[in-house]
Amino acid sequence: MADRVIVDTYNMVQLENTLQKEYAILEDYEEKSSKPCLILALETSCDETSASVIADGRIILSNVISSQVPVHQKFGGVVPEIASRKHIENVIPVVDQALRAANVALSDITAIGVTYGPGLVGALLVGVSVAKALSFATDIPLIGVNHLEGHIFANFLSHPELEPPFMALVVSGGHTSLVHVKGYNEFELLGQTRDDAAGEAFDKIARVMKLPYPGGPYIDRLAATGNPEAIAFPRALAGRDNFEFSFSGLKSAVLNYLNSAAQRGEEVNHADVAASFQAAVVDVLVSKALQAAHKCRVKQIVLAGGVAANSALKIKLAEQCQEANISLYYPEIILCTDNAAMIACRAYYQHLIGKYADLNLNALPSLKLGMDNTNCSS
Ligand code: KG4
Ligand code: ZN
Repeated sequence: MADRVIVDTYNMVQLENTLQKEYAILEDYEEKSSKPCLILALETSCDETSASVIADGRIILSNVISSQVPVHQKFGGVVPEIASRKHIENVIPVVDQALRAANVALSDITAIGVTYGPGLVGALLVGVSVAKALSFATDIPLIGVNHLEGHIFANFLSHPELEPPFMALVVSGGHTSLVHVKGYNEFELLGQTRDDAAGEAFDKIARVMKLPYPGGPYIDRLAATGNPEAIAFPRALAGRDNFEFSFSGLKSAVLNYLNSAAQRGEEVNHADVAASFQAAVVDVLVSKALQAAHKCRVKQIVLAGGVAANSALKIKLAEQCQEANISLYYPEIILCTDNAAMIACRAYYQHLIGKYADLNLNALPSLKLGMDNTNCSS
């Protein structure tokens, strides 16, 4: 007689259910672990409305920048009220475009980063309000990003191999600072400008020389045809281990030079003035950056901010770094000036340590580097 096979149908069904559940968990896990971490970020601190999507912290999927430069150019500088209004008009289309260009839906986003300071208060408020509304509507976590930290992090997008520690020289239209970046979330401010920022000095000198706004790139180009040793303009606070900057004396010296020549009816070689002024700025920036790197015993220097696009600065810093056996990094030009990809990169590293903001996040025009005010509603 053939053996009787007893089939325990109850247990078979149970086993099948358990296996199905385990497969579902495994599939979900595989899907999640293969999904990139997507950060959507917004930047509206000054006169660029920008939105970007980046994957896994360092891969740019989109970086849409709507520049208001042509609007402000006729006023010779940024008009804050106009900047805020233009951000309001541009911000939603720019976010839409960033998502479309990255080929992702809002629901795919892991976290939303936004610049909340420093910058123009009305301009910052537009980005902060939109990011908070998006976060509230979707339950996607919100991350408040310091604009200056964003400028530094632009380097991680251009240089996948770059890691802290390093010395960062942040030179923008509003800031000139030396920052010891000890880790992705640890910064020490060594010194900053007492008066004008480097970019501001470029813009003011360009204005008196009747060059368009923003003047930095025009001075850069004009200086290439001039003699940097033609006029001995002052180098302020040049003492050893002094990491503060001052550019207002230099600005006055250039203005005096131009006015005196005009009073005497002498013709001025504008290319020589541009080259000599630029050399004075570059000398101070380069010597302080190298001294700071030596003091903190770091072998990497990172340039950041709009003035990082300056060709004379990059050349001189590269020469001196090579002599001192220090590696130099700077972002590609489009990532030097204001953009949301750098904000997304900074937001990613905050996401990794769970540094989120709540809906009290406010615009802080004078936010200091390394300060965490993301829960501050005042
Ligand atoms: O970082 P950024 O876009 O805005 C701020 O956060 O301030 O920097 C803008 C500044 C402007 O002052 C502009 O004149 C300057 O960067 N800039 C340059 C160059 N390109 C932009 N300055 C000197 N040389 C350049 N090639
Ligand atoms: Zn900036």
